[in-house]
Amino acid sequence: MGRTSETVLIILCVLITVKAFEMEIIPADRVVARIGEILILTCNTTGCALPKFSWRTQMDYPLGGKVYNNKTYSTLTMNPVSAENSNDYLCTVICNKEKKEKSVKVELYSFPSNPVIETSTSLVVGETTTVICKIHDVFPSEHLELLLKKDEYILHSKTFEGDVSTKTETKAVAYSFNLTTEDNGKEITCVARLQIDSMDFEPKERSTSLKLNAHFGPQNTFINTFPGNSSMEGHSLKLTCVTESNPPAKVFWRKHLAKENIQHFVKNNVLSIPHAHFTDSGQYICEVINPITNKTEKATMNIVIQAPPKNTSLTVFPSSSVREGESVTISCAAAGVPAVQIILEKKIGDVITALETEDGKYTIDKAQLKDAGKYQCTFTNKFGNRSLDVELDVKVPPQNITVLVYPSENVKEGENITIMCSTYSNPPSQMILRKVNQEKKIILPAINGTFMLYNVTKNDTGRYLLDVFNEVGNNVKVIEIAVVGKLEKPDQIMPLIIAFSCVAAVAVPVVAILIYVSRKAKINGSYSLVKALRLKV
Ligand SMILES: *[C@@H]1O[C@H](CO)[C@@H](O)[C@H](O)[C@H]1NC(C)=O
Ligand SMILES: *[C@@H]1O[C@H](CO)[C@@H](O)[C@H](O)[C@H]1NC(C)=O
Ligand SMILES: *[C@@H]1O[C@H](CO)[C@@H](O)[C@H](O)[C@H]1NC(C)=O
Ligand SMILES: *[C@@H]1O[C@H](CO)[C@@H](O)[C@H](O)[C@H]1NC(C)=O
Ligand SMILES: *[C@@H]1O[C@H](CO)[C@@H](O)[C@H](O)[C@H]1NC(C)=O
Ligand SMILES: *[C@@H]1O[C@H](CO)[C@@H](O)[C@H](O)[C@H]1NC(C)=O
Ligand SMILES: *[C@@H]1O[C@H](CO)[C@@H](O)[C@H](O)[C@H]1NC(C)=O
Ligand SMILES: *[C@@H]1O[C@H](CO)[C@@H](O)[C@H](O)[C@H]1NC(C)=O
Ligand SMILES: *[C@@H]1O[C@H](CO)[C@@H](O)[C@H](O)[C@H]1NC(C)=O
Ligand SMILES: *[C@@H]1O[C@H](CO)[C@@H](O)[C@H](O)[C@H]1NC(C)=O
Ligand SMILES: *[C@@H]1O[C@H](CO)[C@@H](O)[C@H](O)[C@H]1NC(C)=O
Ligand SMILES: *[C@@H]1O[C@H](CO)[C@@H](O)[C@H](O)[C@H]1NC(C)=O
Repeated sequence: MGRTSETVLIILCVLITVKAFEMEIIPADRVVARIGEILILTCNTTGCALPKFSWRTQMDYPLGGKVYNNKTYSTLTMNPVSAENSNDYLCTVICNKEKKEKSVKVELYSFPSNPVIETSTSLVVGETTTVICKIHDVFPSEHLELLLKKDEYILHSKTFEGDVSTKTETKAVAYSFNLTTEDNGKEITCVARLQIDSMDFEPKERSTSLKLNAHFGPQNTFINTFPGNSSMEGHSLKLTCVTESNPPAKVFWRKHLAKENIQHFVKNNVLSIPHAHFTDSGQYICEVINPITNKTEKATMNIVIQAPPKNTSLTVFPSSSVREGESVTISCAAAGVPAVQIILEKKIGDVITALETEDGKYTIDKAQLKDAGKYQCTFTNKFGNRSLDVELDVKVPPQNITVLVYPSENVKEGENITIMCSTYSNPPSQMILRKVNQEKKIILPAINGTFMLYNVTKNDTGRYLLDVFNEVGNNVKVIEIAVVGKLEKPDQIMPLIIAFSCVAAVAVPVVAILIYVSRKAKINGSYSLVKALRLKV
């Protein structure tokens, strides 16, 4: 008994004098660490001069850290701490055959960054769009919940229970939907929650948002006109191309069938015509293009700029003076809005004849003298009228020549011979009488179409050429004169001599033209021989 008491006393004595051997792990029991940080576990002893340390994990997984022993304590440094370090760590200390052991539970998490939202490269209305929410480096992902929201409406949510992993992971959810115009400007939010109540870390929820920029259009394109689609010349006009598009559409203006670009002031979607001209009438086209989707749309507008007949013309082809038998075309042209009505009329004196035109053109295949006259073109629309006229001249070479020799081709010496001549021509013909084979060339000019041979002699016997000509042609007649014997009683013949006038008259077969031509003939100082003869004889 005494020995036992002694021993106890000694032990007690040791305990009192020498501090008792103790150990602790810092931090104690449980530590929550963020993956990637430095985690140092310290195994500290007191009351032992030379403790022997050893570290291990509960399931004998690798330590995943470095051990530093320093006399009374030992550290296990995990730099950086990784998912594999999620374990129970045991520190064993042996001091003078006494063994002590303590453990610490290392609990890890990783939730380093906000989620990332990825969308289809082009968000186009009407097309299916996929929104992906990704969160990187999450641990432990079995506690992760991912949520996709459009404004406050939950599109999709997902938890990853049962996804046991020994590593940090990237987790994602995707949601596809058909983009609508209403989606534009709405907010897509991705919420990631790592809800582990037993772990004390912040934040446990992270979120990212983006505003949807849904590309659409161009659509519902139309042209607005101010003040209207019809205007009077000189007024101003504004065309505005209205369209719905995101991003805003590029606008191009064109005019139907116009070769050159529009001259007007164009600023984006507005085309201004400060002083409209009737040529500005036509179909305007506004073409819009979405710069992202390259989708195009068109709108058209017919613009009418009203104007009285303008740029009127009356032309005669090949010329306003043609030869008989030639073809001649009279053309009337004008511009104006509304369309100009063209009326072609022929005026001879008070007689007006309407002519049928085709595209404002009237063609006379074979011009005759009766076609000569005044042609008038009248251009009319509801804003006014104008008229132009032209004088058509049809030239006729001498034809239907009649020659009267008075008293006769056979006369007596000393008599006077009257040669009267008429022809059909325009302009009136000139006449020359020449004697053939005459040493002395005698050329007699006609006076009003009449040639006089006074006091004829035998020497006047012979062949005479009557040359009838005008600017478009000539005609020759042969007259044989024979002078025989002597005139006995010249006085008896006197009353028979009537001063005829042979006229290069323009004989006209058509009554309608008679007045016109006779006027023309009078101007030239001529009258009808036939009539004169009838009157006098
Ligand atoms: C070990 O414990 C002693 C006593 O509590 C203390 O003074 C010392 O700082 C500790 N050492 C370490 C490394 O924690
Ligand atoms: C041991 O600890 C002391 C004081 O804390 C320090 O100065 C020394 O560097 C340490 N030695 C080792 C090997 O860690
Ligand atoms: C999305 O659009 C496609 C084709 O346009 C159609 O087949 C599909 O049913 C639409 N989905 C939804 C959810 O409206
Ligand atoms: C649109 O057109 C441009 C130029 O022609 C081209 O570079 C671009 O790739 C096109 N975009 C699409 C979505 O087709
Ligand atoms: C012009 O406007 C009138 C009324 O404003 C409309 O009746 C007509 O159809 C329009 N014409 C064109 C070519 O757009
Ligand atoms: C006017 O008429 C001429 C000849 O017919 C033509 O060349 C010109 O282009 C016309 N001008 C306009 C404005 O119509
Ligand atoms: C042509 O215009 C004048 C006034 O400028 C008018 O008196 C006349 O009636 C018009 N004629 C036609 C055929 O419109
Ligand atoms: C000219 O003579 C032809 C016959 O030779 C006749 O048919 C025609 O009517 C005449 N012309 C005139 C204007 O007298
Ligand atoms: C011929 O004319 C002249 C002049 O007019 C006249 O003097 C003469 O008597 C005329 N001769 C004849 C035979 O009639
Ligand atoms: C031609 O005849 C006209 C009338 O028919 C007459 O006035 C004129 O004097 C005549 N000319 C000549 C030169 O005889
Ligand atoms: C014509 O002859 C007669 C006499 O022979 C003469 O008196 C007269 O003057 C002549 N007339 C002319 C125009 O030569
Ligand atoms: C007619 O001609 C001949 C010869 O040329 C001439 O000698 C004669 O005098 C002429 N007679 C007249 C009347 O001229």
